[in-house]
Amino acid sequence: MSTFTAPKGIPEYYPPESAGFLAVRETLADAARRAGYGYIELPLFEDTSLFARGVGESTDVVSKEMYTFADRGGRSVTLRPEGTAGVIRSAIEHGLDRGQLPVKLHYSGAFFRYERPQAGRYRQLQQVGVEAIGVDDPALDAEVIAIADEGYKRLGLTGYRIELTSLGDDTCRPEYRAKLQEFLNGLPLDEATRQRAELNPLRVLDDKRPEVRELVAEAPLMVDHLSVAAKEHYEQVKQHLTDLGVAFVENPRLVRGLDYYTKTTFEFVHDGLGAQSGIGGGGRYDGLMAQLGGAELSGVGFGLGVDRTLLACQAEGIAVGDQARCDVYCVPLGESAKRRLVATAGGLRAAGVRADVAYGGKGLKGAMKAADRSGARFALVLGERDVEAGSAQLKDLESGEQRSVPLDALVDQVSAAVAETTR
Ligand code: HAM
Repeated sequence: MSTFTAPKGIPEYYPPESAGFLAVRETLADAARRAGYGYIELPLFEDTSLFARGVGESTDVVSKEMYTFADRGGRSVTLRPEGTAGVIRSAIEHGLDRGQLPVKLHYSGAFFRYERPQAGRYRQLQQVGVEAIGVDDPALDAEVIAIADEGYKRLGLTGYRIELTSLGDDTCRPEYRAKLQEFLNGLPLDEATRQRAELNPLRVLDDKRPEVRELVAEAPLMVDHLSVAAKEHYEQVKQHLTDLGVAFVENPRLVRGLDYYTKTTFEFVHDGLGAQSGIGGGGRYDGLMAQLGGAELSGVGFGLGVDRTLLACQAEGIAVGDQARCDVYCVPLGESAKRRLVATAGGLRAAGVRADVAYGGKGLKGAMKAADRSGARFALVLGERDVEAGSAQLKDLESGEQRSVPLDALVDQVSAAVAETTR
């Protein structure tokens, strides 16, 4: 047994499965790039107060789940639990909003939440996210949702749905909140739930316990109390989604775990994952930038869970990512053959072909086994007698066919054979 183990609740990805992780992350990020979202790389930790102010003191994320510590200079810092607050902080700090609007950014990387670990719920989680800042246009909300949908579709996922709702704006939400609180005050709720109703009444609507669900079945809903402007915004988002061919279901009880949301909010829910069914989510957050000391600019974005999306692919039996480590596995049998093939592997890589070598003086049998394990399509075998004869043997490991390739044209001919298989 090894002395050290990874910290609890942190997934690790290693070959061959790590190819799937990379493919998911890249496919989702690529969907964002194709819609004009530039890349932003941000600190893994920030001032604790950024998250307290941005995400909200009453959220579980801030009140229970943050990795907070004092650095050696005595500052309170926190490992980022999510990406939006940091993006907005950076946009304000560097004046990104002074140019053309919207500012469209995407990011990917690790986030940290001290949650109770279980399948699909980790303490270090990976997201691909986008944020579009500075234009309050329902078409932009629809674009953000459509990008996520496109990413999931490209991976081949079908077993998910998009849940959509509107959380209203400054003009209608306070009134609705009071109405909901009044309703909740009239119910025989337990003490903890009553406190939650005081702090964030919306969260009570999301309670999973059947007895609470029954009690709040008749609760007033935000979508029935939207201001004229918020309602119009919501209607247009739905219209644009329909025009884009993106299917959604309305869930007026959808509650997100972060406090900054206004108007449009959404979640991508996958049926094959059990309790941790949210593979991605997001929405509009029109007050966040001003709240963090910046201009009165709106924003909309999403965070897609890479870990859970990979689990969703596995649940649907979708093989994502190329698990092969190389295209050509070079098998030298003898010293002069080794000198040739080590150099050939270098030449193949320079020509864009993935190549590996059976190092360590393996015999033919052991080397061919290693070739199989590498996932390579071809083995390139060179014995001492082949060196004298001036040709190597190129074996197609899929069909079993074998042919001679002249040593003075190895890189060209092997590259061409590989290109042929990917056409
Ligand atoms: P979020 O819903 O907290 O939103 O997280 C987004 C996604 O990250 C979730 O749907 C889930 O797939 C994944 N995720 C969250 N926590 C965990 C966990 N403990 N283990 C595994 N996966 C997890 C946000 O973070 C917002 N910043 C999204 C956003 C961007 N809204 C507007 N812009």
